[in-house]
Amino acid sequence: MITAMKVLVAYASAHGSTAEVGHFLKRVLSAYDTQVSALNVSAVEAVWEYDAFVLGSAIQDGMWLHAMFQFIERFRTDLVRKPCYMWINCVRVIEPDGYEHAMKHYIHQPTIETLNVREVAVFAGKLSLETIDWNERWLLSLRYDGSERPGTFNKDFRNWEVIAAWGNKIARELGLAPTFEGENIVYK
Ligand SMILES: Cc1cc2nc3c(=O)[nH]c(=O)nc-3n(C[C@H](O)[C@H](O)[C@H](O)COP(=O)(O)O)c2cc1C
Repeated sequence: MITAMKVLVAYASAHGSTAEVGHFLKRVLSAYDTQVSALNVSAVEAVWEYDAFVLGSAIQDGMWLHAMFQFIERFRTDLVRKPCYMWINCVRVIEPDGYEHAMKHYIHQPTIETLNVREVAVFAGKLSLETIDWNERWLLSLRYDGSERPGTFNKDFRNWEVIAAWGNKIARELGLAPTFEGENIVYK
């Protein structure tokens, strides 16, 4: 019996919006013949059973969250053996030249090069100043490396169409077949 490909979507998220992107990608990939899990990187106990990885992190202070680095370090031996896709969520990408800036400065190339990363995506994230504490506000205003004041990005910029398109592209590249589980639909 051929078993469905197992995909792990693992995310590092400080305020939940990258976690939501992870769960959305799970939903997109679940339309295919695959078993998908979406988990916070710190809740992952083993990765050897997965056939592909989709890893995503929020950006703070110009880099992935520390939890993503820890996850990669911990599971590197198993991660390198399988195809891997990575995304980041940030606000800098909204500024002119933001995509190039994020690819150049927010992606830790030495780490990418040691994994079997097929593609890196940069998505616009969500910033909600009411939900971040004063420490973080201070850090953000002091360290944000764009030309706008970060406070101007107090919004949800996530583009679900773009994210869905990326999930579908991953499915195509992994050779996953779309499936439909009949749900006893009454159509007459
Ligand atoms: C303390 C803090 C620092 C941030 N630093 C950056 C940054 O350096 N560059 C950037 O583009 N976005 C930065 N952001 C924006 C986040 O990357 C963005 O809001 C992301 O979508 C948050 O994801 P999360 O809700 O999963 O934590 C920062 C946000 C916070 C709260």
